[in-house]
Amino acid sequence: MSTAISPTAYNYKVVRQFAIMTVVWGILGMGLGVFIASQLVWPELNFDLPWTTFGRLRPLHTNLVIFAFGGCALFATSYYVVQRTCQTRLISDSLAAFTFWGWQAVIVGAIVTLPMGFTTTKEYAELEWPLAILLAIVWVTYGLVFFGTIVKRKTKHIYVGNWFYGAFIVVTAMLHIVNHASLPVSFFKSYSAYSGATDAMIQWWYGHNAVGFFLTTGFLGMMYYFVPKQAERPIYSYRLSIVHFWALITLYIWAGPHHLHYTALPDWAQSLGMAMSIILLAPSWGGMINGMMTLSGAWHKLRTDPILRFLVVSLAFYGMSTFEGPMMAIKTVNSLSHYTDWTIGHVHAGALGWVAMISIGAIYHMIPKLFGRAQMHSTGLINAHFWLATIGTVLYIASMWVNGITQGLMWRAINDDGTLTYSFVEALQASHPGFIVRALGGAFFASGMLFMAYNVYRTVRASDPAEAEAAAKIAVVGAH
Ligand code: HEM
Ligand code: HEM
Repeated sequence: MSTAISPTAYNYKVVRQFAIMTVVWGILGMGLGVFIASQLVWPELNFDLPWTTFGRLRPLHTNLVIFAFGGCALFATSYYVVQRTCQTRLISDSLAAFTFWGWQAVIVGAIVTLPMGFTTTKEYAELEWPLAILLAIVWVTYGLVFFGTIVKRKTKHIYVGNWFYGAFIVVTAMLHIVNHASLPVSFFKSYSAYSGATDAMIQWWYGHNAVGFFLTTGFLGMMYYFVPKQAERPIYSYRLSIVHFWALITLYIWAGPHHLHYTALPDWAQSLGMAMSIILLAPSWGGMINGMMTLSGAWHKLRTDPILRFLVVSLAFYGMSTFEGPMMAIKTVNSLSHYTDWTIGHVHAGALGWVAMISIGAIYHMIPKLFGRAQMHSTGLINAHFWLATIGTVLYIASMWVNGITQGLMWRAINDDGTLTYSFVEALQASHPGFIVRALGGAFFASGMLFMAYNVYRTVRASDPAEAEAAAKIAVVGAH
């Protein structure tokens, strides 16, 4: 790697590190997803060991795919985008390096502690207090690097993609710190500072906004940079993007109670969450349409450019999951969908179709530029990856819809005398074929990631980082 980096050139080293780790954690996290999906088909795969049971590996899967895979993709792209759109180098190389190593340390901590059974028991916030504190420190440093770079920008405007990344960074810090307030009783055990319905409300304020800001707003920042770049067209409407931004962040924060329908939460709070979720359809679709319409006059590129296809299909899945979400937030619909595989299908329409696909597209876009190559080693392999990912996602979500509705209907069926028509085990048996199809879909998706790893490896092997640094130096002088 070149040591003679000009101080005016961008810091690509940290972007390269996060980009490579996105692929590595993607393979591990999705591989684990396939494994736990297989455990639901063949329970023997729990191996009768505490460390390998579904209950312990499931949170490891969610932590690996959301924070390790998704998180690294967000770090990589935000550091790339903020430098290029502000035409300046990151404010501090050492703080940026700290965010990389600190983030990897948190992930390794998760890999060690979750299978051992150390958990706060709060979904997506399972990491015990020592790791949660490390995560908070890394995150605040990330904020310093990102916003510090914005402050020293050489451009007048702050490009809209940075607004989305900025909101994602600020709100994630707020959610994490508030939800993790707890009393440690030992090195590996703490108790929440909240109790009862308040604890539940704060947890799902966190949980839903982890979806809204981590899995959505950050990735929309990605969308606003990489879709126009790859399509070589300006964003369809800059004005719409500003409306999209303010409407989205204003509404998302209220929608958490839709995770707590028919619980001890006050009824008004549930209804408020439902109403806000339905209104949320508007900004979500506004953003999707803005991304899609950016392709006006460039649709033909989809025929030859599989990277653009990843980006556009991710928007289609985003539109689909943000239509489905508001419907599921309606109390009567939720009474059928809640606790069933329908929720899992919705999650993965967003997670695989939107989050993973847009990240994959963005990484394919960046890798050649980061490593001084004209393009990826093989376009054919990207194309194969695209089809594996698309078919995998469709198999996953279609099987979970069928399972979810089957489960919901079987659980609520009652005989004339008021007894249940089906036992729980009968509903489980009816779900078995769906579990097999889901595991197959997951295997499709995860194997696409192996194609990606090989393609990235071949591109990097033939790379010339010094050339990339030189190109960055030229770019910093020219237009972004
Ligand atoms: C090969 C790909 C994947 C497979 C096979 C897979 C499989 C699974 C399975 C079997 C579960 C547990 C479902 C249950 O409890 O019934 C699960 C949960 C979950 N997965 Fe994945 N997954 C994959 C990729 C991803 C990705 C890329 C993300 C996020 C970016 C993700 C996010 C989640 C979340 C948030 C949950 C918890 C859902 C909930 O509690 O409602 N998964 N996954
Ligand atoms: C307008 C947008 C959206 C709305 C209104 C919405 C609404 C909902 C609703 C009502 C549930 C079911 C709650 C339950 O019954 O427990 C849910 C679950 C979930 N959604 Fe969404 N959704 C939206 C978009 C998304 C997107 C884009 C993603 C992913 C990237 C996503 C990820 C999740 C996850 C992970 C869960 C499961 C949480 C859990 O129980 O562990 N949602 N969403």
